[in-house]
Amino acid sequence: MSATAHLSNGGVDIFIEVVDGALVFRYWGPKVSGDFAEIPFGRSVAHSDFDQVQNPGFMREHSRGWLGYPTISGHRNGKDWSTKFQVTKLDSTSHNFVATLLDEVAQLEIKLSGALDSFGVLKLRSNLTNKGADYTLNELFYWLPLSDKATETLDFAGRWSNERNPQRKEISIGRWVRDSHEGRTGHNYTIGQIALSPNTNFASGDAWAVSLAWSGDVQYCVEKNYEGVQSIGAAEVLLPGEVILKTGESYEAPEFFAWYSNAGLDGLANSLHSHLRARETHPKKPRPLTLNMWEAVYFDHNEEKIRQLVDIAAEIGVERVVLDDGWFGSRRDDRRGLGDWVVSKEVWPQGLGAITDYVIGKGMEFGLWFEGEMVNPDSDLYRNHPDWILNVAGRVPPAWRHELVLDLNNPAAYAHVLQQTSDILSTYKISYIKWDHNRVLIDAGTSGFPGVQKQTKALYRLFAELKQRHPGLEIESCASGGARIDLGIIDLVDRFWTSDNNDALERQRMQRWSMQFIPPELLGTHIGSNPGHQTGRDLSLAFRAATALFGHAGLERDLTALSKSELAALKSWITLYKNQRALLHNGTMVRMDYPDQNHYLYGVVDKDKKAAIFSYVQLSPIVASHAPKLRFRGLKANATYKVKVISEAGETGFMAISNPGWLAEGAKLSGDALQEVGLPAPILRPENALLISLTEI
Ligand code: GLA
Repeated sequence: MSATAHLSNGGVDIFIEVVDGALVFRYWGPKVSGDFAEIPFGRSVAHSDFDQVQNPGFMREHSRGWLGYPTISGHRNGKDWSTKFQVTKLDSTSHNFVATLLDEVAQLEIKLSGALDSFGVLKLRSNLTNKGADYTLNELFYWLPLSDKATETLDFAGRWSNERNPQRKEISIGRWVRDSHEGRTGHNYTIGQIALSPNTNFASGDAWAVSLAWSGDVQYCVEKNYEGVQSIGAAEVLLPGEVILKTGESYEAPEFFAWYSNAGLDGLANSLHSHLRARETHPKKPRPLTLNMWEAVYFDHNEEKIRQLVDIAAEIGVERVVLDDGWFGSRRDDRRGLGDWVVSKEVWPQGLGAITDYVIGKGMEFGLWFEGEMVNPDSDLYRNHPDWILNVAGRVPPAWRHELVLDLNNPAAYAHVLQQTSDILSTYKISYIKWDHNRVLIDAGTSGFPGVQKQTKALYRLFAELKQRHPGLEIESCASGGARIDLGIIDLVDRFWTSDNNDALERQRMQRWSMQFIPPELLGTHIGSNPGHQTGRDLSLAFRAATALFGHAGLERDLTALSKSELAALKSWITLYKNQRALLHNGTMVRMDYPDQNHYLYGVVDKDKKAAIFSYVQLSPIVASHAPKLRFRGLKANATYKVKVISEAGETGFMAISNPGWLAEGAKLSGDALQEVGLPAPILRPENALLISLTEI
């Protein structure tokens, strides 16, 4: 069978060809002119090599001469371990394709389909059906060819309170793997794997990215083999025996995103943001300014104190109040009560209505914290049902934050969590839940079988069911901060908690790189206490406010401890956020390639390029007295812009006798002058930010 598929959309071309029965992705990259059928893809036969050029294609099989990592790994009781799939069908349009691949001998069939959207984002789906006796699947990858223009990889690593540290490395021969085995994506999860040309920066250059839409265990790979062929891929990590397909059964791999931009890392980020914003499930209403109670009261649920917080919140313009951990069961600290989702009479003797009605009466929404997948051994739930946890052979896994994991694949445990959560949501006027996941899955067995995949799917089912039962409910995905931020859960949630670390200096980096994938309106960012509860660092309110502006903003601190002038400063910042959130949450993200590492210069430009907000941040001191000029990208070259300092988030700290005149007087200059000539940079104190607005005249 000979056939081709040529997908072209959003400035991206993908060319697929069936060669000797194999499905071969010949090209994935920027759109090119001409006919792909005319482009030669054949290469030399090297010495000490197969006598003829082999075309292993998407399935990367030994049987077709592939000596690198395969796409499928599995067997049928020791047999059918080596496959040779043949394409039996390939249908395509300029935006979609569907291919059927059959191995009659191994009795396996794969349906691979793809859709390329107007933002250049390709989504692939792969479905494996077993047509023979029981088949054990070890893993099923997605692999795409990576242009040899890509010479570097970029991904992100981290831990609790320090998520999303970039790692940029040269691609060399071998396989670079980023994998998770926590049963959740994790703090160390990269969210996606990126490949770059050597000079690619924020503004320009080739950039390819992939991401797997899955919240369980995931692996990403970039591979370059001895032939110089390189590829990028991802797969769900399956536990041994996790997928054994009976005759006629299928394994549906999580969806795989792949996108390309020739406009650097910002181009890559903005393509994905546009794709995600176009989803039906993307939150439509303005992102409410939030007060989260966690670092304000921790477990001290004193009604009187909380009412005082609510009073102040209402006065300064807060729109949503979230009561965090500690409202239920015996949960007076983090050692007990988890699993008993019943309002505690000890702390809320009149029920939660006392506070929900109070918050709503003041014109704000009410949100509540849950951690439904977990249980404390010291809880009624665990005392009554010790057998409801994920475990193997009755072993109790080591505790983590005094928690064990409930087996949501157990219908009774699932029903318990669903019903107790749902009852609370029906009893009280709660329009928002923050859903936490504070430990890893270890020895995650369900009835003796591996349970990570089932647990992940059960959680998706649970969220879908809660949203269906409680229309309008919004969910925040939290996992000790940013340990469950991924493209699998994104369709079921409305906010991610970026990190438990509210320290603005560290948040600058975490937000910068979380936004490489996730649009800012989905990333929770709070003004926390001072000094910061995680780092103990003292930072000015103005710096913390400027930092928390770029995301779904909120507060997380004891408002009763603040002076009148601090509250006035917060009110001014909240008004700024409300006035600017349409721009901040819909615009194009711009991160300038500022020439030194001590500064960030970034912002958001609205779709019409008529207005923009930028932040110039001094992270640490520099050697020279004057920093490089401030240059702004993403504007209309010929339009004239009024440049003005935004002071509503507070006063910036300077380190000079006088500032450049434009800070006080403003400036008027063209988009190209702003980009090419730039503005003299003021000398900022370390740990300070200057907010700048640009408006077309
Ligand atoms: C996790 C979350 C915090 C908070 C606590 C409550 O650490 O990340 O924001 O909700 O749990 O126990």
